[in-house]
Amino acid sequence: MGNCFGTRITVSPSHTGVTSKYVSTDGNDVLSGSSSKVESVPPTPRSEGEILLSPNLKSFSFNELKMATRNFRPDSVLGEGGFGSVFKGWIDENAFTATKPGSGIVIAVKRLNQEGFQGHKEWLAEVNYLGQLSHPNLVRLIGYCLEDEHRLLVYEFMPRGSLENHLFRRGSYIQSLAWSFRMKVALGAAKGLAFLHGAETKVIYRDFKTSNILLDSEYNAKLSDFGLARDGPTGDKSHVSTRVMGTYGYAAPEYVATGHLTARSDVYSFGVVLLELLSGRRAIDKNRPPGEHNLVEWAKPYLNSKRRIFNILDARLEGQYSINSAQKVANLALQCLSAEAKFRPTMAEVVTALEQLQGSKESTRNAKDERNSERRTHSSTVPRQRKRNTHEDSNGKAASYPRPSASPLYE
Ligand SMILES: Nc1ncnc2c1ncn2[C@@H]1O[C@H](COP(=O)(O)OP(=O)(O)OP(=O)(O)O)[C@@H](O)[C@H]1O
Ligand SMILES: [Mg+2]
Repeated sequence: MGNCFGTRITVSPSHTGVTSKYVSTDGNDVLSGSSSKVESVPPTPRSEGEILLSPNLKSFSFNELKMATRNFRPDSVLGEGGFGSVFKGWIDENAFTATKPGSGIVIAVKRLNQEGFQGHKEWLAEVNYLGQLSHPNLVRLIGYCLEDEHRLLVYEFMPRGSLENHLFRRGSYIQSLAWSFRMKVALGAAKGLAFLHGAETKVIYRDFKTSNILLDSEYNAKLSDFGLARDGPTGDKSHVSTRVMGTYGYAAPEYVATGHLTARSDVYSFGVVLLELLSGRRAIDKNRPPGEHNLVEWAKPYLNSKRRIFNILDARLEGQYSINSAQKVANLALQCLSAEAKFRPTMAEVVTALEQLQGSKESTRNAKDERNSERRTHSSTVPRQRKRNTHEDSNGKAASYPRPSASPLYE
């Protein structure tokens, strides 16, 4: 989340239907013609009053979180995003007070490090959405801290970090995520999105990408980062008009062109992630040869042919899938990536398709191979970029890796 790193996009609001009332220095965006729990928040006050009542959330003091993370020790950094750094910490299971490392429950504390209203707005959206929503495929928000200029978020700790870590970090070539786990993650994340889009919730996530899919110890996927989430259109409205925000390579083309946001924009982003899972390539990778920088553009022509699909499948997956199931997943990705939003499936349909695939015996080829490729060894690499992610490997040591595509970009 956040707005100071590269993959994030915003475009001039002039053609996106945003009223001048909201197009101010704070870059606030609006729902077309209706109010929502997030959008109805006025832009200036920054107080507890903006937070929707949620009996599930604890309000932490800054000192408590300082203690829980041992003064935000640099060696407890789990990762960094546009919003700020994420630290590992410990709290008592019942009292939620800071405890010694190794006792109580492990938490992840995200600390906003940017000035300005956009950061506060994303922090507030996260608190208000995750404070109200609960689902096995959404990360659990335990609480928050709002004290003076401090803005923090306290989550359940996700021991396997983000999907991005597993697909793209250094060393992932030998410790590649197996086919069956990739499919499990795809299904879990699809269920999270389907829940958000469901009739009761009607939320558009808007920032679906591998770094926002977190994994628990069993590779259950949970969505995090609701900073850009919006209520879906109400009544007979077909879309929500917003300032265009999201991440290059993931945002749906019609949304980038018009600012018209629908649940089908998330479906497009899901298609991009499915393609990343199939190919092991990043959505945008400037280190590839010309013509291969944009994953969707490069891979699309290969997706509907059984013979040609091998050209895009991740070589690390060899021998783990049946060609039929790979073909079906590729087809599903292709549908999600339809240029015309109305031809994309709903997330509920995607869930059904992925469930059927995983129910079928032929989906996985060699379980033994997968167990082998899952066994992880320690990789010690040095972070080279501003953004970094560290997660403990099976030896309990931290592994760091560079994130080539993770800087924000404004148009
Ligand atoms: N609850 C959590 N448990 C474990 N690790 C986490 C948790 N939340 C975040 N992280 C780690 O911290 C990293 C940074 O997260 P953050 O959401 O701030 O940024 P990002 O998603 O990587 O990038 P962006 O700013 O573009 O959203 C994640 O990629 C993940 O590795
Ligand atoms: Mg994130």
